[in-house]
Amino acid sequence: MAGQLRLDKYLADMGIGTRSELKVWIRKGRIKINGEICIKPETKVSINSDVISCDEIRVNYVNYLYYMLNKPAGVVSATRDNVSETVLDLIEDKQGKDLFPVGRLDKDTEGLLLITNDGDLAHQLLSPKKHVDKVYFAKVNGKVTEEDRLIFANGVDIGEDALTLPAKLTILKSDDISEIELTIQEGKFHQVKRMFEAVGKEVIYLKRMSMGSLLLDQSLELGEYRELTMEEITILKGKKI
Ligand code: URA
Repeated sequence: MAGQLRLDKYLADMGIGTRSELKVWIRKGRIKINGEICIKPETKVSINSDVISCDEIRVNYVNYLYYMLNKPAGVVSATRDNVSETVLDLIEDKQGKDLFPVGRLDKDTEGLLLITNDGDLAHQLLSPKKHVDKVYFAKVNGKVTEEDRLIFANGVDIGEDALTLPAKLTILKSDDISEIELTIQEGKFHQVKRMFEAVGKEVIYLKRMSMGSLLLDQSLELGEYRELTMEEITILKGKKI
């Protein structure tokens, strides 16, 4: 029946433990359904009406959603905006789901944006301490050089207290308009643009290709989105990022 789950899955979905740990805990009598101990992991519970507790602490079921959006230029990475269209305006059926974008891309930046209601995962991906790789493709006015690559590898002064963390610059084409791929582990305001400004160049096109283990699905047109697969979610949460 819709809205019904096995007890061990309900608790595993909420991150209480692994399915095998939970089976043991349930059999030991640590879990109650509506105040009654239940020792059968396969018992079906309703995510809407049953009250589940583990060691007397209530465990509410939150339906987490994860979408990958290929953000087009011209929309802002916010939940609401008085002037511009937002990335959430592109998502259908979002009412009451508390979705938000994980981090910000500039209005004129395209590419991978994760949209979710999972605050813990967002924190994991955005925390500066976690050093999650973000890979950008950019077109840059002017010849990007080996010297720029070395400067980026050593950290750049973009006017903050500290230099940027070492970043990996791959030069795909060095010409009047160069094409590059840049991997950074921070998310400072306008960071990629400011790094190129620091070496006297201007980013004229920017697209995020990946964030941690999550790669932009190349079949998504600009403005299109899809749910993450179970595998993508598991790897992102498994900190293999
Ligand atoms: N760096 C930028 O300059 N802009 C973005 O949108 C993302 C990274």
